[in-house]
Amino acid sequence: MAGRRRSADLTISGRAYLQGELKDLEICVSNGKIDGVWVSSPNEYSEKVVADGKRILLPGMVDMHVHMRDLNQSYKEDWFTGTRAALFGGVTAVFDMPNNDPRVDSLRVLRWKMEEASKKALVDHGFYMAVPQKLEELHRAREFIFGVKLYPEDILSGKLPDLMRELYELDLLAVVHAEISGDELLGIRRVLKSCRGGRCHFTHMSSPAGITSLLESKLFGFQVTMDTCPHYFLLTSSTDPRMSVRPPLRCDDDVKLVMNSVRTGLVDAISTDHAPHTVEEKEAGVPGFPGLETTLPIIFTMILDGKAPLRMLDLYSSRPAEILGVNKGALLPGRDADLVIYEYSTRRRISSEDLQTKAKFTPFEGIPVVGGVESVYLRGELALSEGEVNMIKGKMLRPCANTGLHSKE
Ligand code: DOR
Ligand code: ZN
Repeated sequence: MAGRRRSADLTISGRAYLQGELKDLEICVSNGKIDGVWVSSPNEYSEKVVADGKRILLPGMVDMHVHMRDLNQSYKEDWFTGTRAALFGGVTAVFDMPNNDPRVDSLRVLRWKMEEASKKALVDHGFYMAVPQKLEELHRAREFIFGVKLYPEDILSGKLPDLMRELYELDLLAVVHAEISGDELLGIRRVLKSCRGGRCHFTHMSSPAGITSLLESKLFGFQVTMDTCPHYFLLTSSTDPRMSVRPPLRCDDDVKLVMNSVRTGLVDAISTDHAPHTVEEKEAGVPGFPGLETTLPIIFTMILDGKAPLRMLDLYSSRPAEILGVNKGALLPGRDADLVIYEYSTRRRISSEDLQTKAKFTPFEGIPVVGGVESVYLRGELALSEGEVNMIKGKMLRPCANTGLHSKE
């Protein structure tokens, strides 16, 4: 397809997902990057066929919204267990939220978190920052962060216009938790009113009204993108305290509409909002679910069962990579060689007992899925192989100015 055929560090051939289609590909990897991709026929496969039978080769997934906790909350999750869970879920890049203890609202705490992650992470990782106490710290933080997370209190604050001006000047992505007391529209309106043409990503969108409002704002020329999470297109609200999450789960009609927006690609991305808590905390109603290990199997099963198009894979791989401007999420020459071999010969049910994350409650308990992740290559190195983790070091990802979807002209 592209690239020169020459000696490679690794060659993988087999059925693979490429830009909305399944193809028989031969993929060569050199120096951690995909060096060449050729369409082949099964009888032309090189000797290193690893994706045959009921196996498929996928790009490593990109999760643009996770909470790895650690620091003073490592009892919930730490960078080792969280990224290990990512590997088991076929995720090779995670982007971590700043609502830690302590909150990542200063360069000092950001550096502390970067340091912890660099010691423990098993997949590549990027960071967001909370609105810093000293706004001027954003200038120096700019090179380390993919965006600034806006929480409801930031949106309601009188300082929002100043903040949005600063983000615009620095070409920093505003990553917005728009839901305020269940309503997403107020948050969307307030942010877009002061965004000044800057880049805004609305995360974990849960309501059809919110999604429609963002689609309208796209038509009006705002540089907005949005993601939703599997729980918003699969699960309806419940009185079970363990099913607590922010934004909250919605009624059946809303869930169906959010599902439609995912199937038809009206939302730009899927994220997990992997938010680990202990079982005791969940029983006490603390909001948030783990999701890193369940999302790819859920997506893959929907596709295999004919409930979603193949393109749904893009929402958890190439699209978030594009929004954040990272060289990941697709089996294309020049991209990082993050590869997943997904095996789909068996059916099973999701069970909290099988999870690697410290959070042993999943809202998807008992849901039938097909197969699972068999092996993962991180930048060309075998990081996970049939349940064995090879301790390949995850790399910190840095933003590359003007490569995102919304780059300034
Ligand atoms: O349910 C949630 N849990 N929503 C959030 O916005 C935060 C997250 C967490 O950190 O636990
Ligand atoms: Zn979150």
